[in-house]
Amino acid sequence: MTAKGRINLTTSKMQLDLFGKEDQESLHALNRTKSSVKTKELESIKAKKGFSLLRNVQFIYELALAKKELLSFGLDFHVTNDFRIFEVTSPRESDVLRRRLAYFESTNGVITDYYYIIKYNQTTSVNQYLMHWVYPYKGKFHPQMIRALLNIMQIKEGETVLDPFVGSGTAALECQLLGINFIGVDISPLCYLLSRVKTESMEVISEIEKNKKDILTDSRRIEKIKNEKVKNFFTIAQMVAHSDSSRRGRNFTFSFNTNVEKMIQSLRDYIEVKKKLGLNLGKTKILKGDIRNLSLDTESIDGIITSPPYSIALNYVANDAHSLQALGYDSRKISDDFIGVRGTGLDKFKLYDNDMEIAYKQMYSALKKGKYCTVIIGNVTFQGEEIDTTQIAIDTCVKIGFKLVSKIEKIIFGLYNVMQKEYILIFKKD
Ligand SMILES: C[S@@+](CC[C@H](N)C(=O)[O-])C[C@H]1O[C@@H](n2cnc3c(N)ncnc32)[C@H](O)[C@@H]1O
Repeated sequence: MTAKGRINLTTSKMQLDLFGKEDQESLHALNRTKSSVKTKELESIKAKKGFSLLRNVQFIYELALAKKELLSFGLDFHVTNDFRIFEVTSPRESDVLRRRLAYFESTNGVITDYYYIIKYNQTTSVNQYLMHWVYPYKGKFHPQMIRALLNIMQIKEGETVLDPFVGSGTAALECQLLGINFIGVDISPLCYLLSRVKTESMEVISEIEKNKKDILTDSRRIEKIKNEKVKNFFTIAQMVAHSDSSRRGRNFTFSFNTNVEKMIQSLRDYIEVKKKLGLNLGKTKILKGDIRNLSLDTESIDGIITSPPYSIALNYVANDAHSLQALGYDSRKISDDFIGVRGTGLDKFKLYDNDMEIAYKQMYSALKKGKYCTVIIGNVTFQGEEIDTTQIAIDTCVKIGFKLVSKIEKIIFGLYNVMQKEYILIFKKD
């Protein structure tokens, strides 16, 4: 693996002085040379016997998913005393394990693809590799967890996965990396754009680079760009800057310029990792629409992985109001179609339950028989009382015909003030 490139920002010392301290720090962080995969580290991993967990794996639920991953590949194993190495007693051809595993850095000395993929990261957050970091969307999936769940659901390359609440496109990008075809739906115009940008922009990187100078000189020129994918790329860079300036008080122009550079570097990373690992990317289709009335082909989907709004826990319209407004939308007008945002007072809960029943029915009908549907959901506290959204989801899905095959508790930190736990529910359509 070659050393990663230094991001070439042209901001002068004088310009730097015009920006705040936080901006300066972020610029320096960005310019820091990213450490390449160290030869010594590789040698020590290659020397390890057994299946070794990645260093970022630390929670009980991750260990539970790591075990399930191995079981889904038909392996017999036991965990060693330090909980970091799994001794696999039924070894099998390692190529598929190398390409697919999410929680392991190596399998009997063979380094996994995922170990390399997560090194391509323009941020300091381990889960924000490649394009995952783009836009600070609240309630994003952990991409590593999605990769593991795709294994657990036994989704094969070339099959099709649906996420009817695609949000920032985490599942879209993870499926693409694994060569899995993907259909993502979201009612939010911001999410629609974001998910497309994460999965389409590398196709037009030369045109993005060609337009860069012009756009950085005058961002109003974005409107004139003919190629939709190129236009979407710069539009999303603007939305990240809107978010940076409204949430963190950052200078808009500085943030926009920095994000464009950083996003281009992430695209270069994507292209490089695809080439190095010989990845065969999945086909991705992102739709803007309301899952309650979208017409999806009956029994056409090989797996569903999704995280619906957690009842009324988060107002997705208010939360991204700055970006939606910048995209030309009136928050009040679009709110009516957002599940969990619709209605007022206690009515909101009733509407949420009805809406989700319709959504689960749509999911059930689209899924092929014998396949899995994973729902990640948490409870919500309203006026000091916990509402068991998770149990309501289970009851509704079972009533529709799904069978609950697994319920895994997952601790979450600092996501919403009102929630500490969420659940990974795996259902099967028999
Ligand atoms: C918990 S978030 C999904 C986050 C996503 N898993 C990620 O990694 O970014 C739920 C999403 O449901 C979307 N949503 C709300 N109502 C919807 C509807 N009627 N149809 C489709 N999507 C909807 C919201 O816009 C939001 O993006």
